[in-house]
Amino acid sequence: MHKTRNDIAANARKGIVELLNARLADLVDLQLATKHAHWNVKGPNFIGLHEMFDELATTLAAPIDDMAERITALGGTAMGSVQAVEKATSLAPMPTDVFDGMKMVEALADRTAALAKSVRNGIDEVDEMGDADAADLLTALSRQLDKNLWFLEAHLQKG
Ligand SMILES: [Fe+2]
Repeated sequence: MHKTRNDIAANARKGIVELLNARLADLVDLQLATKHAHWNVKGPNFIGLHEMFDELATTLAAPIDDMAERITALGGTAMGSVQAVEKATSLAPMPTDVFDGMKMVEALADRTAALAKSVRNGIDEVDEMGDADAADLLTALSRQLDKNLWFLEAHLQKG
């Protein structure tokens, strides 16, 4: 941890940074998984899914940057290398042998829901550690992930 004039206690900042780094790894993983789907999807709904996956990946870009910069603002190190992400992610690996559009939607829905759950749990955890700003970040992110999950699940429902 770096020295900072930030008034949140050092041990609290350490705990918050750990939690945010865990979610940062998940977020980067999910963004790459979504790009993987954008690049490789096949089937009759190709163009719609190809475009939607790209839009979903884009919605994660600002939250990734905000999360990383909250970590550094707290005196931490944002663990943004692909090796660090690979070690820290809690998401199941995105299958690379699946190409069918609906199966890809399902794979992304599973991972989006898992991340939304841990982000939602994190809201109270960082709040209890005294960081309402990190709680605000996670609140906005959980709202975005819920919206993304709705977009994905709407493709899976048969009316
Ligand atoms: Fe593209």
